[in-house]
Amino acid sequence: MATAAATPSIDHNVSSFVAKTHKLLINGKWTAAASGKTFASYNPATGEVLANVAEGDREDIDRAVKAARAAFETGPWSKMSPSERGRLMWKLGDLVEKYLEEFAQLESLDNGKPLKVARAADVPLAADHFRYYAGWATKIEGNTIPLGLAPRGKFLAYTLREPVGVVGQIIPWNFPLLMAAWKIAPALAAGCTIVLKPAEQTPLTALRLGELIQEAGFPDGVVNIVPGYGETAGAALAAHPDVDKVAFTGSTEVGKLILQAAAGNLKKVSLELGGKSPNVVLDDADMDKAIAGAASAIFFNQGQTCCAGSRLFIEKGSFDKVVDGISKEADKIRVRPGFDPDSDMGPLVSEEQLNRVCGYLESGLKEGAKATAGGARVGDKGYFVKPTVLVNTNDKMKVVREEIFGPVVTATPFSDPNDIAVAANDTIYGLAAGIWTRDIKKAHTLAAKIKAGTVWINCYNVFDAALPFGGYKQSGWGREMGHEVLEHYTEIKSVCAAL
Ligand code: NAI
Ligand code: MG
Repeated sequence: MATAAATPSIDHNVSSFVAKTHKLLINGKWTAAASGKTFASYNPATGEVLANVAEGDREDIDRAVKAARAAFETGPWSKMSPSERGRLMWKLGDLVEKYLEEFAQLESLDNGKPLKVARAADVPLAADHFRYYAGWATKIEGNTIPLGLAPRGKFLAYTLREPVGVVGQIIPWNFPLLMAAWKIAPALAAGCTIVLKPAEQTPLTALRLGELIQEAGFPDGVVNIVPGYGETAGAALAAHPDVDKVAFTGSTEVGKLILQAAAGNLKKVSLELGGKSPNVVLDDADMDKAIAGAASAIFFNQGQTCCAGSRLFIEKGSFDKVVDGISKEADKIRVRPGFDPDSDMGPLVSEEQLNRVCGYLESGLKEGAKATAGGARVGDKGYFVKPTVLVNTNDKMKVVREEIFGPVVTATPFSDPNDIAVAANDTIYGLAAGIWTRDIKKAHTLAAKIKAGTVWINCYNVFDAALPFGGYKQSGWGREMGHEVLEHYTEIKSVCAAL
């Protein structure tokens, strides 16, 4: 049952979309799950059922992989020119933009995030992603290689960059549409075919995207979308012997399972995993900007961001001022349902995440941390948590060591900027970091020392399709975005001819 109809400003198309029982997109047809089962997606602002969706499992994944294989080997896609591929992708980007409001509402209902954030960030970034990679479709090139040991003119050697084949893509719930775009767009540019498994918490925008993929005119079987649970549909996709590559975004724990599942046929693997990113404020920073930046680094998207600036390190002379500032920022944040125009922060995505985050809050406070803002759940309906700042922590505490994935930051003072890289790097993760200073020498010296895939200086959470993103250490393997991601979706073939 669609509870969303209770919200006055809901778009008519959105309410009819959530009200249908959703099917799987396999070989260009919307089909029920082989088991006939469905599962519910919830509205995290109320905890009520939002929509019902076919529950894909092993047999459905198998059908989807077969469709993707046929589309890759013999379908119209396999013969399509790069220019035509790019044109379809550009069209898809335009369609996402055309239905921006619909996507934003669906995302807000399914994930909980403020509607205004989905409108300004998730949907436009997703549309731009398809356009950026539309441009790459015609620019995937090999090289000519002069052989070092052969006399000139004896050989012609060159490389071809070919699509890797059928790719399985498993995505999380924090930016459901945007994660689908991050995965699908580069794979299409490379000429691959796809089986996408959205997160069970937030399948709706991927399903709507599936409709637009058909409207844009992609041939059947090029993009198959199979919602379902991780342990069933996701595991079957990661282990499938006819999938050439699996791309995953989610927890480090599941990333390790994906790797094991992929070992059977040695499929290629790329992983974008968790983080516990340091955000460093030096005494000479522009404090107004640093405080506002540190707040948005952790509180954006309810703190459910893999690169969230969750460990705030503040140089001693500014500690009280920054803690006071970020605590005031936290108190100002209006925690409301995403459809409320005044909402700055929505609910967490699920009851499971609520319990996980509240568990961390309790553990931190029990171990002696003090909350200078927040520290608890908001109300008893929906999965809302107060933006929280913790001080008096130490580097043994779980709240400092583990990814919380909620609006919780720990603040720690330090005395010597020369030593701060050691503390910043004291984590199993290495996804991102922030540095706030007016001194360019300090900024770039520290940026070089930090082991992270992205370092933001005097900014945070700046994303662009052109800018590679991914992790050192247990934050993952490989990079998303930029031209770097195309390496995951292509194989290099060396051709060597004796003349
Ligand atoms: P998760 O890693 O279980 O879920 C991510 C995706 O993986 C979903 O599509 C899920 O269905 C799938 N999945 C789960 N188990 C699988 C398996 N055995 N084989 C194949 N696919 C599988 O993450 P979850 O449980 O939703 O959240 C737990 C924690 O993970 C969060 O608290 C957060 O710390 C972290 N996380 C990190 C994300 C990131 O962007 N790096 C995104 C989501 C969660
Ligand atoms: Mg949901």
